[in-house]
Amino acid sequence: MSASHFRSPASFPRTRLRRNRADAWTRRLVAEHRLTVDDLIWPVFVIEGENRREPVASMPGVERLTIDLLTEAVAGAGDLGIPCIALFPVVGSDAKSEDAAEAYRPDNLMNRAIRALKTAVPQVGILGDVALDPYTSHGHDGILRNGYIQNDETVEVLARQALSQAEAGVDIVAPSDMMDGRIGLIRDRLDSQGHELVRLCSYAAKYASAFYGPFRDAVNSGGFLKGDKKTYQMNPANTDEALHEVALDLQEGADMVMVKPGLPYLDVIRRVKDTFAVPTFAYHVSGEYAMLRAAAQNGWLDYDKALLETLTGFKRAGCDAILTYGAVDAARLLKEG
Ligand code: PBG
Repeated sequence: MSASHFRSPASFPRTRLRRNRADAWTRRLVAEHRLTVDDLIWPVFVIEGENRREPVASMPGVERLTIDLLTEAVAGAGDLGIPCIALFPVVGSDAKSEDAAEAYRPDNLMNRAIRALKTAVPQVGILGDVALDPYTSHGHDGILRNGYIQNDETVEVLARQALSQAEAGVDIVAPSDMMDGRIGLIRDRLDSQGHELVRLCSYAAKYASAFYGPFRDAVNSGGFLKGDKKTYQMNPANTDEALHEVALDLQEGADMVMVKPGLPYLDVIRRVKDTFAVPTFAYHVSGEYAMLRAAAQNGWLDYDKALLETLTGFKRAGCDAILTYGAVDAARLLKEG
């Protein structure tokens, strides 16, 4: 066989993967993963007052809103088809304390926002963050004693916080504190008080990450934080431990589990999804969002395209839903096609 025959166009190469990429319609036809508006959870920040919006400097495009403006914004997100928001309160320093008692006050900012939203926009789900960092004077997610975050004492406060949110009408309780045993105790507390349909979304594999910086600015906890969160949040070096965390949280009654942050932990998302086959969420966190915005502001990348590519990456890794500050942008882009 001559070399020229061997290289004839008829036989080389027979398989051309580029055929299916040749037209938009085939690309659509063979797409393996699809990001839709149903996959999006929009994290929002609520502040005291009326008719006021405050931009978050380290998160371009993100604003803290008073309850009235937040209600309008969430209604808009609902009109775009966004199924759920994640609610975070910005708590003034006068309401912060060593024991974080404000966290479970029935009329605190968080609970007033939940009531207002559930009255005005009942069709949009609310995922309520449960952790003490907005409420502690030291910015940690739990009760600090002898230089150590006390586990069991904190879990009792978290259960009260979760119950107060459930009583205000929250749909999903989402503990982001990383204490041991909190899912079980919160489940029992909710069930014993008649809230058996309130869902539990566990921040099951939450890492001690550098990517939370802008969030701590947004909720005004960064300046208060002493030290780091490494005695309760996970070591970025570990994956087996993430599976152990997820297994325990499922046993204790979690309905959904979350991996956080997102992009640097896509391998963890994939292992969790493959191992447990349960609803798996990821948090595309503040620092990841800020990086996209900062690069786009410098003209270094296209925010819209990079955002959709990033969110599609989460779907590919096995996510059922993604918490992202770009949720409204993504919903608009998906609608425009
Ligand atoms: C705290 C909490 C954090 C985030 C959500 N809940 C920060 C932290 O653990 O310090 C971060 C979210 C983000 O960075 O977007 N319980």
